[in-house]
Amino acid sequence: MEMARRAAEYRAAGRRIIDLTLGEPDFAPPAHAVAAAQQAAVRPMVYTPANGIPELRRAARRALQRDRALRYSDAEVAVGCGAKQVIFNAFFATLRRGDEVIIPAPYWASYPDMVRLCGAVPVIVPCSAESGFRLSPDALEAAVTERTRWVVLNAPRNPSGATYSHDALAGLAEVLRCHPSALILSDEIYAHIRYHAKDYNSIAQVAPDLRERILLVDGVSKAYAMTGWRVGWGFGPTELIRGITAVQTHNCTQTSAVSQIAAVVALQGPQDLLAERRETYRRRRDAGLAILKRSRHLDTVEPDGAFYLFPRLAVGADVAVADALLEAGCATVPGSAFGAPGHLRLSFATDIATLEEGCRIIVATLDGISA
Ligand SMILES: Cc1ncc(COP(=O)(O)O)c(C=O)c1O
Repeated sequence: MEMARRAAEYRAAGRRIIDLTLGEPDFAPPAHAVAAAQQAAVRPMVYTPANGIPELRRAARRALQRDRALRYSDAEVAVGCGAKQVIFNAFFATLRRGDEVIIPAPYWASYPDMVRLCGAVPVIVPCSAESGFRLSPDALEAAVTERTRWVVLNAPRNPSGATYSHDALAGLAEVLRCHPSALILSDEIYAHIRYHAKDYNSIAQVAPDLRERILLVDGVSKAYAMTGWRVGWGFGPTELIRGITAVQTHNCTQTSAVSQIAAVVALQGPQDLLAERRETYRRRRDAGLAILKRSRHLDTVEPDGAFYLFPRLAVGADVAVADALLEAGCATVPGSAFGAPGHLRLSFATDIATLEEGCRIIVATLDGISA
């Protein structure tokens, strides 16, 4: 957010800046969802149930069954203002002072701050580029204590784009079985943006016996390019869903009724756009990678999903490099923001020409820094 703000400031001052900071799709929301929202907005819109309108809970359940072959009942789903609020509500409903939450790094920056806001302690577990930024069963086992309340899994991951194979998730599940008091967050907000069909499996699919401990989170933000509409949901055991709904009730009642109606239509309408957009992201990923790979100052793992490149820097400190890149005309996010100093995050939620220009600036600037 800070880098995007600085990029906007430079632009306002008349500088040309390529912005690779953005964490949101550059596509339009589905036209049928927008049309449904327009029609809904002229009708009286009153409070909805705190856990979402029944049509949306049903549509989300059916989409999950269609895409991931997982079945949940109506009482096992809660809708909130984006995946973010569902996760926050879940932490708030369950965490006590001093509880620990295991967060593999690099991580989405909100997890540790949410945990701290709830008075609990984030336990950061670094996952190296060599391991493909994946949490290993051994690292998980070493991090779990009797105070562990949640283990955060996110695939495809922001910012590394890493996913887990069936076997990798099965390995984590084996460890989790030995620690029955830990809940498991499976943040699947990028589920539709993954480049190898076999690669992604929700832990709920791989370990059905852990179902009563898993909160599976998803929403319309990334898949349908509807970040600003603020609709996300979580599937989980009834008691946890009741807790999430109780928190939701007392902080903002519910997410916008108009947005909920648009989300129903996005979920029920034609789904071809998901595959089309994935292919567009894939072309962008490959175009960006091709340029970054030319630099001897960068080591870039090919992301399996999401829309970020996360190269490791062989020269300079990430914050200083991001500053130098901004001066050179390209805004990026330093890896320190994600608990992985020494890296940069580049979003490819932008057109290929812009992305290529940004990557060229990065390569040339790093050559200059190392000279
Ligand atoms: C890993 C991850 N989870 C959740 C979210 C939040 O999604 P939403 O916009 O639905 O709140 C993001 C947004 O960047 C994200 O990267």
